[in-house]
Amino acid sequence: MNREQLSGIAHADHPIKAPLDDESVRRLLEQALPRGDERVLDLGCGGGEWLLRALAGNPRLRAEGVDTSEEALAQARRGATARDVGERLALHHLPASDFSSPHPFDLVLSVGATHAFGGLLPTLAAAREHLAPGGRVLIGEAVWDREPSPEAVEMLGEYDDLATTVERVVAAGWTPVHGHVSTRRELDDYEWACWGSLASWALDHPADPDSAQALATATERRSEWLRVYRDCFGFVCLVLRRTPS
Ligand SMILES: C[S@@+](CC[C@H](N)C(=O)[O-])C[C@H]1O[C@@H](n2cnc3c(N)ncnc32)[C@H](O)[C@@H]1O
Repeated sequence: MNREQLSGIAHADHPIKAPLDDESVRRLLEQALPRGDERVLDLGCGGGEWLLRALAGNPRLRAEGVDTSEEALAQARRGATARDVGERLALHHLPASDFSSPHPFDLVLSVGATHAFGGLLPTLAAAREHLAPGGRVLIGEAVWDREPSPEAVEMLGEYDDLATTVERVVAAGWTPVHGHVSTRRELDDYEWACWGSLASWALDHPADPDSAQALATATERRSEWLRVYRDCFGFVCLVLRRTPS
């Protein structure tokens, strides 16, 4: 079983691949889509859950998603068909940095995918290239809630604390007009959902040749979360507009 197959099972009960609950996602989309007829781009869309919810809630919206995972895009296609929004959704299988479009977008989304561009500020710079005048960006990024251990940094990467993260975004010419900091409950629910789904799948499929690997991965990842990063990892989503220069 490859990494994407494991990820697909792990996110079965939490299709948003980030630590936010449904109400937080709804409120962020509401703030990011003030008109309801926007053209939306998601860089690193995964299974497309943000776009599918935006499309289902706004019948005049059109959306495009970009991701390097064919399996995630196939899931997005299935979800679009199930929600009857497929005609308004275009999906692109390529690195987000290679995506180009003849038209700009009113909202550029990128949640939990800033590694696609090498970090938060390069992601915002890329988003800006796709943004229509007056458009908005909805970005989701990890932050340190507390000083991380060297092991946590090695495991998850280099991030800033919340205040520094927001200050860097502002210094890069963006104004936050809405934001959401994941709560302890959202952070915990996400991890329990991921490793619980994977463990459940393993227990439900004892004869599957991948069962033992899935159970071992769930056990290892749950332990890494509890031992290495539960006390320092945080997550923020920001709705941004360009600051007038
Ligand atoms: C943590 S998931 C987030 C998915 C989605 N934004 C969400 O919140 O549900 C990160 C996604 O980024 C995608 N990704 C990683 N590198 C990428 C790249 N260079 N270009 C496009 N997508 C990429 C992965 O395939 C994965 O689907």
